[in-house]
Amino acid sequence: MPTPSAQIHPGTPQHLRRLAAVLRRGDLVGVPTETVYGLAGNALDPKACRKIFRAKGRPTHDPLIVHIHDHAQLDVIAIPNDAARKLARAFWPGPLTLVLPKRAIIPAIVSSGLPSVAVRMPRHPLFRRLLKLTGLPLAAPSANPFGYISPTSAAHVAASLGKKIAHILDGGSSRIGVESTIVDLRDPSAPKILRPGAITPAQLQAVLRTPVKAFHRIPSRGAAIAPGLLKRHYSPRTPCTLHSRLSIARARHSAANEAWIFQKRPVSLTGKNIFWLDEKGRLENAARNLFATLRRVDIQKFACIHLERAHGDGLADAINDRLRRAAAK
Ligand code: TXA
Ligand code: MG
Repeated sequence: MPTPSAQIHPGTPQHLRRLAAVLRRGDLVGVPTETVYGLAGNALDPKACRKIFRAKGRPTHDPLIVHIHDHAQLDVIAIPNDAARKLARAFWPGPLTLVLPKRAIIPAIVSSGLPSVAVRMPRHPLFRRLLKLTGLPLAAPSANPFGYISPTSAAHVAASLGKKIAHILDGGSSRIGVESTIVDLRDPSAPKILRPGAITPAQLQAVLRTPVKAFHRIPSRGAAIAPGLLKRHYSPRTPCTLHSRLSIARARHSAANEAWIFQKRPVSLTGKNIFWLDEKGRLENAARNLFATLRRVDIQKFACIHLERAHGDGLADAINDRLRRAAAK
């Protein structure tokens, strides 16, 4: 029997109620968040969580982020310390995930057997409404097949998981475009960033008043503390090379089967193989357009893609982290 394609739902009250029922009975929904789209299931139901791993083709040693609607739920699923409360108050709802000791209510499959759980309160209004309607914490990794480019629209989710899931909630294009900043707070005196995102180390430090360690060391295979740190991740199928700056002259004279993705529109250069993340190189727009551009270029089957690093503060780290992984061999 052919697998039916996922239904894409608008965020009307009626559709949200229907999707809440889907989640409560243990099935999955592709959901919009302000960072990237997620693949959500009831975090308290091991069977629902198993479906998430299966749909993504994700190894079960790569734990899931649990999404909550309000601060009270944090205490139900994790054991927060003072540092966690400060960061939650400052940045939630928003693109920040906290790793904390977990409570027994969170099944082992969610945390891949670890005694910790990753928690985030997302900001996207439709996902928040859905969280409220279900009354449940929802486990949701990015809604892409394991290792492929993260989705930032309902169409992206449908394109890569549409045959594996039945429902997607359409919340428009993700506003931020790169996944949340993950902070390991298991030792509150030594907070560590496991994955850079829109919330920067400087912002975290300003709230915590302690140094925050950026943890960019890439562990060897299998030894990942956060598999978001896996060297190769978010990868297009086309081989990618990362450059500090792309040369307009080289791009102009290159073979037509080589794609070039600039940070900023290269004036006076056009071609079917020339792309850019933002007209003026603004980092917020570059982050927002990054994954959609990688997908668009990837499906055109160029022989290779030349990527240009972001320069500057703030989001540059998060963008470069994704570019590095896309280019990792
Ligand atoms: O912005 C985001 O965080 C998106 C949206 C959907 O919320 N989610 C997301 O999930 O990026 P995912 O599964 O693609 O990445 C989650 C990362 C993984 O690298 C995982 O290893 C890490 O979070 N993680 C989850 N639980 C953890 C834990 N207990 N300890 C350390 N890392 C953990
Ligand atoms: Mg992911």
